[in-house]
Amino acid sequence: MARATGVEKSSLAILLALMEKGGMLERDGKQVALSGEGRRLFPLVVLESALNHEWPLVDRMVKVLRGAPGHDYMDAETGPAFVEKYCKAMEVNANALSPRIARELRRAAVCKVVDLGGADGAMMERLFHLGAAVEGVVIDRSIMHAAFNNRFRGTDSPIQFIPADLRDVDRLAPFLGDADAVIISNVLHMMSLSCVERLVACAAGAATAGSAIYIYDLFDAGEAVFDTASIMTVDWMLQGTGFMMTTEEMALLMQNAGFEIQTRSSWPGLPGTLIIGRKQ
Ligand SMILES: C[S@@+](CC[C@H](N)C(=O)[O-])C[C@H]1O[C@@H](n2cnc3c(N)ncnc32)[C@H](O)[C@@H]1O
Repeated sequence: MARATGVEKSSLAILLALMEKGGMLERDGKQVALSGEGRRLFPLVVLESALNHEWPLVDRMVKVLRGAPGHDYMDAETGPAFVEKYCKAMEVNANALSPRIARELRRAAVCKVVDLGGADGAMMERLFHLGAAVEGVVIDRSIMHAAFNNRFRGTDSPIQFIPADLRDVDRLAPFLGDADAVIISNVLHMMSLSCVERLVACAAGAATAGSAIYIYDLFDAGEAVFDTASIMTVDWMLQGTGFMMTTEEMALLMQNAGFEIQTRSSWPGLPGTLIIGRKQ
């Protein structure tokens, strides 16, 4: 493999060992191949690294380490080409996670779903196709609106897009009150702790009894030898959020806001954990 790709053999061995530890590769004697999960997530790795090429990563890291404030890359990189690549990367996650969320939604006979930070609606579209919702609202930044329209152009879907800043919780509350389920997937790591607390409290305040919140993210895995959150922590430091929350801390925050924790699930090959809280 080293000869075919022109890379250094010992470095390649380290990389392959890491990928095997992370569940991306399977080894059979001297043969290595992408695992089933690896094949599914590989496009995400490729797309993420393409996005990373566009950010002067080392420069930014040095600046932040020297005390410059972190900055949310979405505030700067708002061109349509960037949004298109970004949404493609997000779709890989949506495809992997949506069957798991759909199973829970169907079990709870959910009708109306609100997806906070739902990007161009990829997750919501999958949930509809999987028969897990009959009405949906996607709330995200206004720069996602065109991508949402592209995805649903020509379809007669009961999915609505609301452009809003998730930090402006007063604007969100009216859309949350009649939702059976609110999803916040891979979004909280882009926010400061006080914004996370306000958003979860807003969802709890607006929720009616029996409705649920589904929070999915890459939580700090503590003692684990290899975990994706540890790698992403650098990204989050650069954004200025410094997200390093464990599932226990997140569950406690949800409980304090008024949700009873129902389940915490994680699956091989999917890097994050889903925590479901229900309003009593
Ligand atoms: C990493 S993506 C996750 C997309 C999707 N929920 C998923 O799981 O694949 C984070 C999304 O949250 C949105 N987001 C982050 N901070 C936001 C804010 N303050 N207001 C509105 N949307 C925000 C981003 O625009 C982006 O679409």
